[in-house]
Amino acid sequence: MKKTPRRHFRSRDWFADPARSDMTALYLERFMNYGLTPEELRSGRPVIGIAQTGSDLSPCNRIHLDLARRVRDGIRDAGGIPMEFPVHPIFENCRRPTAALDRNLAYLGLVEILYGYPIDAVVLTTGCDKTTPAGIMAASTVDIPAIVLSGGPMLDGWHDGELVGSGTVIWRSRRQLAAGEIDEEEFLQRACSSAPSAGHCNTMGTASTMNAVAEALGLSLPGCAAIPAPYRERGQMAYETGRRIVEMAYEDLRPSKILTRESFLNALSVISVAGGSSNAQVHIMAMARHAGVKLEAKDWTEHAYDLPLLLNMQPAGKFLGERFFRAGGVPALMWELQHAGRLHTNCASVTGKTIGDNLEGREARDREVIRPFSNPLMEKAGFMVLSGNLFDFGIMKTSVISQAFRARYLSHPGQEGIFEARAVVFEGSDDYHARINDPALDIDEGCILVMRGAGPIGWPGSAEVVNMQPPDALIRRGINTLPTLGDGRQSGTADSPSILNVSPESAVGGGLSWLQSGDMIRIDLNTGRCDALVPPEEIERRRREGPAPPIPQSHSPWEALYREKTGQLADGATLDFALAYRRISETTPRH
Ligand code: FES
Ligand code: MG
Repeated sequence: MKKTPRRHFRSRDWFADPARSDMTALYLERFMNYGLTPEELRSGRPVIGIAQTGSDLSPCNRIHLDLARRVRDGIRDAGGIPMEFPVHPIFENCRRPTAALDRNLAYLGLVEILYGYPIDAVVLTTGCDKTTPAGIMAASTVDIPAIVLSGGPMLDGWHDGELVGSGTVIWRSRRQLAAGEIDEEEFLQRACSSAPSAGHCNTMGTASTMNAVAEALGLSLPGCAAIPAPYRERGQMAYETGRRIVEMAYEDLRPSKILTRESFLNALSVISVAGGSSNAQVHIMAMARHAGVKLEAKDWTEHAYDLPLLLNMQPAGKFLGERFFRAGGVPALMWELQHAGRLHTNCASVTGKTIGDNLEGREARDREVIRPFSNPLMEKAGFMVLSGNLFDFGIMKTSVISQAFRARYLSHPGQEGIFEARAVVFEGSDDYHARINDPALDIDEGCILVMRGAGPIGWPGSAEVVNMQPPDALIRRGINTLPTLGDGRQSGTADSPSILNVSPESAVGGGLSWLQSGDMIRIDLNTGRCDALVPPEEIERRRREGPAPPIPQSHSPWEALYREKTGQLADGATLDFALAYRRISETTPRH
């Protein structure tokens, strides 16, 4: 391996500062606890952090507790010194009131660790939804060489001879439960069958989406994202990642040299052809802003709406992670974009080569799973950004709009892509669950279900609750989906046609705060408009006379601080004061 000597590894400031031998002794001695020697730590070799996101509280990432051994082997063999440390746990499904609170908390914690300890480069272990953006955001702020190692998805789930995918099986089964087609025991069995091994969600939910994003950005070794957690290739990828980060430390290959506007546009394109999660909008925006890259709302429509759906994977398609991996994974999707002229191939990557070079020979091996650009599963299947008198920003993932839904709402002759629906407004998910089956609401096919109070300030944290299902009576009539709209998010594994991440949220006085049940809402997917058909003077009156939006009290110090400092979903829900801190590793903390 070529080792161009780096000017000075920052760990030298701890372990070999000639001016402060007293402090050096203090810094060195306790690492002896696990067998390191002063000679080793003073040898000038890079110290490589392994940011460990796996724990019993983070079961999606738990495989990293094992993988870290192979990462260490790779680091050692390449001449680095591994130091593993814990990251604040993030478990999407279990953290109440929502794991969205944890992304910024894990980010803050990781920044302090990477800055305040003698770490020269870092392996970011990722998996469950927000572990990926939290790590990348922190690596950008600190700007030391960083590489992403995904833990990989679970094996494919099977139940009664059918594929059952993480999350997606929940949303589909709860409709069948409502229709009386299955009982609760069957529901539970299906859920458990969807999780057959270690790993994160095996659908193209937010976890697989965000790991694909990391790879598209050039932050992980090619092919890393899709390898299922238990496969032998996963351990090999961990080893290679460990080796490579040591070289990156010597090359001083930092996130600031990899993350550009073009690399973020590549990420938008990849997740569009993958039918990826709408949550990626929030996280990509956050990562871009922490990297100092300018992305705008219109980028989603301009760069990612007209792209076709190529990946046949749940929730937009039918297969799961194992088939995706065998078909070629993220490089095969990028290969399609490259050959369609829709990829910025000159972007840098952690391999030291360009994205384009990394894709050599990576054509898909299974055309049932990864369709060619010329014969996609769906045309124009990317993300569309909407705005209007109800909000400045909302996003729709069009790859999950079913044929039935398109036929019912979007295909009226002369009115293609336009529909009007009567709003039924819910104040958060408790209200929705309490009232959705109330006959007094008179919900029919002509309604749109609206959720407010689910944004970063209102929830707090912003919840995945906008994918509301219709009342049981409608489902029994075969109406499985109604359009939905809300200032929260929806699970990346959901297949609802929803307008999501609406900003500004109702809790800060956004348009949803004055909307009333019974108002008509007009949505025009041709122009990207979504408006309540309420006259301006009436809107003014409601704003003046209506009650202030209810905001539940904070129940923990972090909830309170989060609410005080966190922005809206449109802008990535970042801690905005933190954006002022960039490349902080360029200064060394004082002794
Ligand atoms: Fe953790 Fe889906 S719940 S990856
Ligand atoms: Mg989720």
